[in-house]
Amino acid sequence: MSELSVNHLLGIKYITKADIDLIFETADHFKEIINRPIKKVPSLRDITIANLFFENSTRTKLSFELAEKRLSADVINFSAGASSVKKGETLIDTVNNILSMKVDMVVMRHPNPGAGVFLSKNIKASIVNAGDGAHEHPTQALLDSYSISKKLGDVGGKKVVIVGDILHSRVALSNIFALKLLGAEVKVCGPKTLMPKYIESMGVEVELNLRKALEWCDVANMLRVQNERMDISYFPSTREYTQQYGLNKELLDSLNKEIVIMHPGPINRGVEITSDVADSGQSIILNQVENGVAIRMAVIYLLASKIKQQ
Ligand code: CP
Repeated sequence: MSELSVNHLLGIKYITKADIDLIFETADHFKEIINRPIKKVPSLRDITIANLFFENSTRTKLSFELAEKRLSADVINFSAGASSVKKGETLIDTVNNILSMKVDMVVMRHPNPGAGVFLSKNIKASIVNAGDGAHEHPTQALLDSYSISKKLGDVGGKKVVIVGDILHSRVALSNIFALKLLGAEVKVCGPKTLMPKYIESMGVEVELNLRKALEWCDVANMLRVQNERMDISYFPSTREYTQQYGLNKELLDSLNKEIVIMHPGPINRGVEITSDVADSGQSIILNQVENGVAIRMAVIYLLASKIKQQ
């Protein structure tokens, strides 16, 4: 297969294993290019991309922008805080105004779940979901699985535990879809109050005890508690959360094996993970960020190839 089965990347649940394999193969090629002295290719000189961020971001926004520029696309950036959204403009009006400027692709982060799907049904441009509320964050899941495959040789057959605020996490949901498609075994670990009711129906086991989860896994993906999505308290205090679900060096060193530590960022150092773990040799957190550029180049390149065929 040399093309994606979809015209948009709205979530991992809409793509196939063959799509992921193609994205990873393409990312391998771009990873090699971005490590050369001249890191840029002319592939997308005829493509214009708008990055629309209606919610804060550091990694995803910079990573997409760099990926687009490495592919020589024309790039425009939009942040809701400094826009006419503040004056009451609707999402469709905002996006249609941007599309009038002859934009081919929209990369969008939005606080509302389903915002990308809504846009794909209402405008003529290829949409990439850069995170929609607590729904999906597909490029994060792709770069996470890709980073596991680079570190351990394969994702299939590996045991991965996702730890923390599963209920509010688009990273958890997209990771579960991607890891299961690629044949990994997946557990989730965290307070019962932060476990969605449907989680076991996704073929994922719940383990409430962090030590047991770490003893079982090859890889632990530590998530941030999404305080901005909580309107009530889901655990007594941050201190108690850290005592039960925080990963520190003493716990890591007490396991009788080496596991791989991941985190999508931003990190709350000292809450879900201590600094000495985040910065340890077992952590691949910065490799995830580096791989993110190659993965986003691959996604944009493959979607743009489909636009060019239309
Ligand atoms: N991982 C991630 O989505 O980080 P940002 O919110 O900084 O983009």
